[in-house]
Amino acid sequence: MTTTGLTSRFHGKTALVTGAGGGIGSAISRRLAAEGAHVVVADANAVAAKEVAEALAGEGLSADPLVFDLLDPEAAAAAVQEVITAHGQLDVLVNNAGINRRGDLLSLTENDWKLSFAVNVDALFHLCRAVLPHMIESGGGSIVNTASQWGLYPAPGHIAYNVSKAAVIAFTKNLARDYAPYNIRVNAVAPGEVRTPMLEAGLACSGRTVADLDALVPFGRIGKPEEVAALVAFLASDEAPYICGSVVEITGAQAVA
Ligand SMILES: NC(=O)c1ccc[n+]([C@@H]2O[C@H](COP(=O)([O-])OP(=O)(O)OC[C@H]3O[C@@H](n4cnc5c(N)ncnc54)[C@H](O)[C@@H]3O)[C@@H](O)[C@H]2O)c1
Repeated sequence: MTTTGLTSRFHGKTALVTGAGGGIGSAISRRLAAEGAHVVVADANAVAAKEVAEALAGEGLSADPLVFDLLDPEAAAAAVQEVITAHGQLDVLVNNAGINRRGDLLSLTENDWKLSFAVNVDALFHLCRAVLPHMIESGGGSIVNTASQWGLYPAPGHIAYNVSKAAVIAFTKNLARDYAPYNIRVNAVAPGEVRTPMLEAGLACSGRTVADLDALVPFGRIGKPEEVAALVAFLASDEAPYICGSVVEITGAQAVA
């Protein structure tokens, strides 16, 4: 993504992005940083977090890696406090990390069900509980959660993922309803297929190709991480002051095909 021509919607703001070492999370981090934010590149994968933060810093952007596992609620809460202490503020939280465990109800293991909810849903509970008091005290903030098209229109054989993403959507709406009076906007994005390591892993399991997936999309191709990042940045920015409790689909019309 070229940073030429971008605005400075996040100048002076601090953003924490989870799953920022991955495909969509790294694109979100780059977009927010390119628009002036200091970005905390959070991931359990220390190497990936460091690589992304260093790449951004190398481009003259402001970013730090922060390594913690979302499966550890205390570490997640401590990480939020660390950011607030270090920067004095946390304006934007992007709950983007996620995992995709395959299987229908009979083939899925109970552990994969629990793990899916722990990473995809419980982590939002813990991080938002850590962030909200600060946002309330500072007069507002913005939270964007990465759901999925599959949380709205289930793909076959992915019950844990689909139901956990439906929970992300419900969580988003509940949080928005409760905290809009505090000037905290909470929204979600629901992407269709996007070319990332998660998607590549799915292809390796299914034996399908990117071209197979492209053919299912009316737009003629699957999505790009940068396209999701642009939407997340818009929702997180002051250009969306009245968008709260929304779930925005970004699917190249696949959701209506
Ligand atoms: N790629 C797609 O087609 C697609 C479509 C719809 C929604 N999504 C969602 O977008 C988000 C990003 O997915 P992606 O495709 O970039 O995947 P990805 O696998 O490239 O990135 C996910 C990142 O989350 C991190 N992560 C996983 N478990 C973690 C944990 N316990 N603690 C901290 N970090 C952890 C991983 O280390 C990884 O860097 C996910 O929530 C995913 O469900 C992806």
